[in-house]
Amino acid sequence: MTPHISAQIGDIAQSILLPGDPLRAKWIAETFLKDPVCFNEVRGMLGFTGSYNGQKISVMGTGMGMPSLSIYVHELLDIYGVKTLIRVGSCGAIGDGLGLLDVIICSAASTDSAINRQKFGNIAYAPVANFYLLREAVRLAEERNIRHTVGPIMSGDQFYIDDTSHLAKVKSHGVLGIEMEAAALYTLAAKFNAQALGIMTVSDIIGETKELSSKEREQSMRDMCLIALDTVCQSTSSLD
Ligand code: HPA
Repeated sequence: MTPHISAQIGDIAQSILLPGDPLRAKWIAETFLKDPVCFNEVRGMLGFTGSYNGQKISVMGTGMGMPSLSIYVHELLDIYGVKTLIRVGSCGAIGDGLGLLDVIICSAASTDSAINRQKFGNIAYAPVANFYLLREAVRLAEERNIRHTVGPIMSGDQFYIDDTSHLAKVKSHGVLGIEMEAAALYTLAAKFNAQALGIMTVSDIIGETKELSSKEREQSMRDMCLIALDTVCQSTSSLD
């Protein structure tokens, strides 16, 4: 057990899907996993382990933002020996031509995070996705005709931003969307010699006020989860 996860060693698979929302973790477990068992309820941050295509896979919420994700992901990597982590989340789009519900497979995550500044000082460390997970996710999205874009995003410390001028700057350097977790996931996975990827659906277009119906959200969540589950299955068949 750790301060934030009540599972025993072995209760958590070496491969895990990580939505921000713990109730989304429950939905993923109940929708896609066979015989899911809940391994964590501490602080309501639900986690489940079950099987998918005969392979042991876990899913757990991370909460919002890099401080919250970092606590859970650090413990998953350091104590539970997790090796493959895929964030299935949402992002706000800033890239031209992106629409609501588009899937972004995130090759890199710039960040304004104070965490990475504390870690690296004046080195602008580049948090990147694992190449093999990225390649497999792109292959699966292509095979299934799921509309997707591959490219960099930015993980910010703030959702409500007073001064948004930095968004134009990163957009002009190819950043497609903003969210709040991937940079910490990529950085921690690198530290623990594990492999990580972020797949995001576009939940809002920055500067616009379009709303999504819950049905629309669910379909794109399904597409994203299937890409993530099949990617871990292809990439980790000998781990558990
Ligand atoms: N900003 C930050 N994180 C997000 C957003 C956003 O607009 N949408 C989804 N996650």
